[in-house]
Amino acid sequence: MEIIIQSTYKQLATIASEIIRDALLKKPDLVLGLATGSTPIGLYKALVRMYKEDGLDFSSVTTFNLDEYVGIPCEHPQSYHTFMANHFFDHVNISMKNRHIPQNTAENHEAFCAAYEEAIARAGGIDIQVLGIGTDGHIGFNEVGSSLASRTRIVTLTESTLVANASHFEGDMSAVPEIAITMGIGTIMEAKQCLLLANGTSKSEAIAKAVEGPITSMVPASILQMHPNTVTIIDESAASDLKEVEYYKRSYANKLKLQSQ
Ligand code: PGA
Repeated sequence: MEIIIQSTYKQLATIASEIIRDALLKKPDLVLGLATGSTPIGLYKALVRMYKEDGLDFSSVTTFNLDEYVGIPCEHPQSYHTFMANHFFDHVNISMKNRHIPQNTAENHEAFCAAYEEAIARAGGIDIQVLGIGTDGHIGFNEVGSSLASRTRIVTLTESTLVANASHFEGDMSAVPEIAITMGIGTIMEAKQCLLLANGTSKSEAIAKAVEGPITSMVPASILQMHPNTVTIIDESAASDLKEVEYYKRSYANKLKLQSQ
């Protein structure tokens, strides 16, 4: 796993946006896996700036979001449909037909989940999957104990996730939907590249366990150690519990040195 440690949140967002930009310039019909939450907001902001100021073209891009709550309508201010519209989709030229977010109002969830997997496969698979990490080590809504081979499915959120997400529901944990649809860990692991983003001390323990701890379903993000192309981009605070910080910094400095030769 490549670990990139930056001093500010803005820098980590910039690096993530540059990885996506470079991939998009090489492959205009890029398939992006997208995440919600506070972590990727800076990344979306940077990509919107690239669209508006540099003419980065998203017209052939296809997107698949990781997850969505079940039990609130798409138009709910805290739905991930609303989040994506506000932070990204309303500001770039990704065509409506190419945007996919798990459907929180599907009548038959099982059939919907199977169809979501089929749509990802039909699009040729995900080229770059953006991931945040929960304080409990979850990726998407794959909570502790998720099968490391799981596919898109209905899940129940853990108390730690409900507590963390209550801040978006005026601090009212009982207002956070307990059930969600999430891409599975097996689905995520099939992405050609994963970008794991984290900032702040609240994520340092989860990052240390995910990057340097044993691979276990009790820390779902730890499976990324088995992914052939995961780049973990974090700030100093999120890196503060890692043991090998100096080594990661030296490795990244050497990579930049080689690239500039
Ligand atoms: P956050 O959420 O970006 O809002 O911290 C990340 C997650 O829970 O996956």
